[in-house]
Amino acid sequence: MVRSDRRFARITAVSHATPARIVTNDDLSALMDTSDEWIRSRTGICARRLAADDVKTSDLALEVAEKLLAKSGLSADKLDFILVATITPDSQMPSTAARVQTKIGATNAFAYDLSAACSGFVFALATADKFIASGAYRCGIVIGAETLSKVIDWSDRSTAVLFGDGAGGVLLEASADMPFVQAEKLRTDGSRADSLTAGPDKLQMDGRAIFDFAVRDVPKNISETLTLGQLTADNIDYFVLHQANSRILDKMAQKLHTSREKFPQNMDRYGNTSAASIPLLLSELTETGTLKLDGSQTVLLCGFGGGLTWGSLIITL
Ligand code: COA
Repeated sequence: MVRSDRRFARITAVSHATPARIVTNDDLSALMDTSDEWIRSRTGICARRLAADDVKTSDLALEVAEKLLAKSGLSADKLDFILVATITPDSQMPSTAARVQTKIGATNAFAYDLSAACSGFVFALATADKFIASGAYRCGIVIGAETLSKVIDWSDRSTAVLFGDGAGGVLLEASADMPFVQAEKLRTDGSRADSLTAGPDKLQMDGRAIFDFAVRDVPKNISETLTLGQLTADNIDYFVLHQANSRILDKMAQKLHTSREKFPQNMDRYGNTSAASIPLLLSELTETGTLKLDGSQTVLLCGFGGGLTWGSLIITL
């Protein structure tokens, strides 16, 4: 879909929250039959953050929401909606988003969770853009938050080393200026669901199948989204992709014939944080000044994972 409505959304603040506890590959080697060399060379992951037993997904999401309000100076009662993308909600009911809504005092906001695994943040941001573009709502918060450590099978070294906990989010406000989403293409293929599952059993993954999916379907989706936006890879300042594996990013850059330097990464420090990975990276890139939020940059966001789900948004930042 190509955006051409009169009202547009803009990201006006970005923030993230991560648990304090850092667990390195060497720490994991003391617990299971693995090594820093294996994990680092296969995935690019060197460490991850793990939440303490009493820290829930809503605690991380709440910290993100509070930071967004503090950064923007907006009072919570001005928020129209709160969306939390997560596959590790505190409970099925109430939603993680409802917990955040009441704790920050967003008394005028509706709130709900969205489940699309590692594509969750992209799907939620695409949804939120429509809420604002429709003219029905003026501002809201979109968060990706996970405590994957609670659903990992710690006896399965092939998955346990890959994931981490964290949260990130954005404040979205109506703006008259310019289109926010220039093009988007979201996809789901439930027929391949079995290659990555979690709940009621612990997380299980066919790593090879997911790797093949990521390097075949995802670059195709990115190319299609570029075509929809009448853009080429050269027009994109940064490709902010789901942080699963640095080798996947290498392949993406190759397949799109573009510089690997346009694919920032932080999975080396956080592992795969599912729905949190993209906003967590956006937040760090904003803090370092790489991303400016001044309307001067074109960024492609792309999530991919369980469902299977995948999808890209080309946004003006
Ligand atoms: N430490 C040491 N050895 C390990 C290991 C670990 N943590 N996990 C698996 N191994 C072993 C396997 O047992 C296997 O041993 P074998 O040859 O004796 O049977 C060997 O390493 C190779 O395993 P394999 O699964 O073939 O490795 P791989 O090169 O395919 O890499 C992944 C595994 C998971 C890193 C890779 O498949 C991948 O990145 N997949 C995509 C995962 C992903 O991105 N998921 C999230 C998407 S949202």
